[in-house]
Amino acid sequence: MSYFTGFHCVSCQASYPPDRDLLLCPACGNLLEADYDYARLARDVDRDRLATREATVWRWLELLPVLDPDQIVTLGEGGTPLLRADRLARSIGVRELWLKSDAANPTGSLKDRSITVSATKAREFGYPTLACDSTGNKASSAAAYAARAGLGAVVFCPHDTPLPKMAQAIFFGARLIRVRGHYSEINAMYRRLIGTRRVKWYDCGTDNPFRYEGKKTYAYEIAQALGWRAPDRIVQPAAGGMSLAKTWKGFNELRRLGWCEGLPRMSVAQAAACGPIARAWERGDAAIEPVERGATIASAVAAADPGLLGQRALDAIRASDGAAASVTDDEIRQAMRDLASEGLFIEPSGSVAVAALRKLVAAGRVGPDERVVCVLTGSGFKDFERVADMVTIPERVVAGFDEMLQAAMETA
Ligand SMILES: Cc1ncc(COP(=O)(O)O)c(C=O)c1O
Ligand SMILES: [Zn+2]
Repeated sequence: MSYFTGFHCVSCQASYPPDRDLLLCPACGNLLEADYDYARLARDVDRDRLATREATVWRWLELLPVLDPDQIVTLGEGGTPLLRADRLARSIGVRELWLKSDAANPTGSLKDRSITVSATKAREFGYPTLACDSTGNKASSAAAYAARAGLGAVVFCPHDTPLPKMAQAIFFGARLIRVRGHYSEINAMYRRLIGTRRVKWYDCGTDNPFRYEGKKTYAYEIAQALGWRAPDRIVQPAAGGMSLAKTWKGFNELRRLGWCEGLPRMSVAQAAACGPIARAWERGDAAIEPVERGATIASAVAAADPGLLGQRALDAIRASDGAAASVTDDEIRQAMRDLASEGLFIEPSGSVAVAALRKLVAAGRVGPDERVVCVLTGSGFKDFERVADMVTIPERVVAGFDEMLQAAMETA
């Protein structure tokens, strides 16, 4: 039995039934927000009973916009580790630091949380093919879930997308179309292409309101792992800002259901070379202006124009009394090393939250008494060349036992 009751438009408030195949609001073109029967859900569903289900995104089925659970397409996504990092907490200067590692997802990034939902909806609506535009992670995730579901996949990526992400998408069987330009330029063309209705693909891109809902599971997992009490703050990387906006929605749902105490301050991490959401927050602007895209190693979060979603993320930061920071490539590399010192192998875009937290603490914007969760969004293998650039592989090759012993004695 589904508790999903349909969508309302965040701008004109028009409402739509749960079985409609929708992207943006047909009346005004703004974003749609999924609604649920929270009163019935609170009556019927026991929060602690959910904990006995398998630890995936689908543990939270009643809070996801699915009508037919038989169509669920899963690779065991979600339920990723939330690791306490005391040494790093001391080094940064906060009371408690927790690292939520989405590198542990099936395709190695956060995207599996949302693509599992859109692949499920594609099956519900009867589409033969998944499609998306992507800085690489969404593409490889869509490709994997299409393979799992027995569907086709077509993905559009910037020409300079990291090789491992492109290779992964192709390896899963997707048709990859490389497009000259940066992500926001490609996003505008991709949305236009979908709008022509000349292709019969299920759009898993930034306009899909079903897909977003998968990101709420960040809130549910973090709340459950911390004993149903919200942390003081969550720091999340943002391109469009979907994850941040949806984590905020998830915590508000939990409060409404009476399942979790408190709300976190939502804080965004972006790259200094391309951080329109952080810039709008720092300047106190009501609306986000697109920026020129500068060069950064954090290619997955460098969205020059975060569009309608970016505004939702900015609203969530303000509503939660959160903060924003943009970080340089050197600060991102430092964060990658910080994470490596805790045994975590995270791509540059996935490490920006830790870099941003260090900066926010140094600026006095985050207090030393806070309990903070940083979300790490992608594996180091996803942008492997960047990591390889940061190490030196020894030229010397030893041969035979004597040389090996010699090298061992030099090291000891
Ligand atoms: C590694 C990584 N982190 C963060 C993001 C940001 O996602 P969003 O702003 O859509 O929540 C992306 C998006 O591509 C990503 O690939
Ligand atoms: Zn509308």
